[in-house]
Amino acid sequence: MILSLNTPLDMHLHLREGTMMQNVAPISAACFAGAVIMPNLISPVDTLQKLFNYREDIEKVCKNEIFEPYMTLFFKPYPREFLEEVREHIIGIKLYPAGITTQSESGVTDFNMIEPTLAIMEELQIPLLVHGESDGFVLDREREFLVVYRRIVENFPVLHVIMEHITTADSVSFVDEHDTVSATVTLHHLMITLDDVIGGLMQPHLFCKPIAKKPRDLQALRDAVFMGHPRIMFGSDSAPHPQHKKECVGCAAGVFTAPVAMPLLAQIFEEADRLDCLQGFVSDVACKRYAITPPAKTIELENKPYRVPTLFNNVRPFFAGETLRWSIRSPARI
Ligand code: DOR
Ligand code: ZN
Repeated sequence: MILSLNTPLDMHLHLREGTMMQNVAPISAACFAGAVIMPNLISPVDTLQKLFNYREDIEKVCKNEIFEPYMTLFFKPYPREFLEEVREHIIGIKLYPAGITTQSESGVTDFNMIEPTLAIMEELQIPLLVHGESDGFVLDREREFLVVYRRIVENFPVLHVIMEHITTADSVSFVDEHDTVSATVTLHHLMITLDDVIGGLMQPHLFCKPIAKKPRDLQALRDAVFMGHPRIMFGSDSAPHPQHKKECVGCAAGVFTAPVAMPLLAQIFEEADRLDCLQGFVSDVACKRYAITPPAKTIELENKPYRVPTLFNNVRPFFAGETLRWSIRSPARI
């Protein structure tokens, strides 16, 4: 059986820089028509020059593929003139609470300070992408952050807010209740719970922020995605770290899913008997919500076994060494 997908998009992707980018970017560029590129570099993407340089670096590394990098800016209190200038070069601005995850130290410390910038973003129709976690107890962080989301949605009723990588049943309900709110869901959060991370022997390669939650949360995410939710889209949050930064004391957060994203999505949608919803989840919802038209590109998947390499240079992927039921037929694997 062959499955054709039109302009698949990864609406939340970490490409890093330098040799790591050279290692991982071509993998996503081969099987997606575009991706929303996260700005949490060692020096965050917070000026026009950094944005242009980063985009150019990505384009250079991905020059053999049809691949649109949808750039984001790291949220800071920005003045109007800057937002007017940067607007046409970005798909949105990504807000991180300070210190909540990898390279987010210069994120927001005081949520009372964000409103003037949000008012201008709302007016200029710049979407707000959010890493929504408080600094509370790890399993409560996403739920506690809903207070912040609620305030934003109430004070800025036409701002497009994207709740990134949601992991809880409460977040799904919040999306359900607010028409101006969209959400991304990762592959791994559709497959694992906290038990898979720490219920047996500890699995550092499944450790990420936000951490995977309870079975009822997993079920709520799957229910929403498999019913073809009109505001929930795929964002892998594929976040590569070198093996020595994962298999150590102080393991870095992030799951590297880029090489297996499309085959595993096909597998879980097939298992749920909802292959009919896959096109919407990996492209159509995002195109509609963000009002984007990605470059023409079709990906073909085929139900032929694919053995996942254990390492992509020094990065270990999700499902390393395992055999998947679906493989990418075209474009051919690089
Ligand atoms: O697990 C994560 N890794 N969550 C994030 O929010 C950031 C990401 C990274 O950049 O490594
Ligand atoms: Zn991320």
